[in-house]
Amino acid sequence: MWSFSQRIQQLPPYLFAQIDRKKREKIAQGADVIDLGVGDPDLPTPEPIVRAMQKAVENPQHHRYPSYEGMFSFRQAVSDWYKRRFGVELDPEKEVIALIGSKEGIAHFPLAFVDPGDVVLCPDPAYPVYKIGTIFAGGEPYFLPLKEENGFLPDFRSVPQDVLKRAKIIWVNYPNNPTSVTATLDFYKELVEWAHQHNIIVASDLAYSEVYFGEEKPPSILQVEGAKEVAIEFHSLSKTFNMTGWRIGMAVGNRRLIEGLGKVKTNVDSGQFQAIQEAAIAALSLPEEALKPIRDTYAERRRVMTEALKNIGLEVVPSEATFYLWVKVPKGYTSAQFVERLLDECAIVCTPGNGFGEAGEGYFRISLTVPTHRLLEAADRIGKLKL
Ligand code: MLT
Repeated sequence: MWSFSQRIQQLPPYLFAQIDRKKREKIAQGADVIDLGVGDPDLPTPEPIVRAMQKAVENPQHHRYPSYEGMFSFRQAVSDWYKRRFGVELDPEKEVIALIGSKEGIAHFPLAFVDPGDVVLCPDPAYPVYKIGTIFAGGEPYFLPLKEENGFLPDFRSVPQDVLKRAKIIWVNYPNNPTSVTATLDFYKELVEWAHQHNIIVASDLAYSEVYFGEEKPPSILQVEGAKEVAIEFHSLSKTFNMTGWRIGMAVGNRRLIEGLGKVKTNVDSGQFQAIQEAAIAALSLPEEALKPIRDTYAERRRVMTEALKNIGLEVVPSEATFYLWVKVPKGYTSAQFVERLLDECAIVCTPGNGFGEAGEGYFRISLTVPTHRLLEAADRIGKLKL
């Protein structure tokens, strides 16, 4: 039997694939499963996007290989959207690249800049792909714990000198998955200054920028002066426009970083189906108000579920954005033990905090991606558990 490569051996099974398997087993037993696991919006993709896709599929021009870096019209639409949403200017030719979903770009990016022995600074808890991409590239992840007392922001100044010397990239992700907090422009300013000082690439994952609840919209790191000299930002249409299945995203920012990612991608993939890019152009051209009903739905679910969980004695981190709730497990349980009980005894799928890294121990994550009555049903089932 062939043994897996050492890089692959370092990886546990992919978190959400594992959760999906457990869910399917439970459904096969006939259980009425409430899935609050993976962050997969249940709301439909807005109509104009679907219509644009239908029309584009009929055009034979789109049936051939797409351009590697994305159609110019798609990259222009991304650039226009960044200008409208963040006031950030991007050269569509050199500072924007299409991705087959942002996961793909996040996993491939370190291959362009990380050599064996290099360090990548990864938040913990976090989307597992920052670590996975680092390991694929032969780099070493160094984890920066996101602690409640620091507002779940990384203390990048605490990185020891010997690690800092080998550090190539730092990943940040705000609005944050899984903790649901946001970062301010001041945080980004400090980070950009520090990155300049230490010659470190900042890779920002902004997938949840449009799922927010406060008056202030979450910023992009690229709004900071000098950010484009050190930063690349990954974005996705998945969460904003309910398009997880479509696999379309983009990376934007520093042109050398985009060039490096492009070099990896031209060697491993052939670009995204152009009809999907046409649909993405329609999405990015939607008026701002089109997203309000989506945000309002999550805001209502967040309000109802936060209250319901508090009523049954669970402690919820106040959620500022994203469609996640980050909840403390009751005393006497590890994250894995509690989530297992939820599945076994309540038929509820949640993500254990430690699945996002060691510092996520003591928490579990709830995705608000089912209708309100199902969230209330879930809270009711949890409330009946003898803890
Ligand atoms: C999550 O649940 O954390 C995300 O949906 C995973 C992903 O975006 O791939």
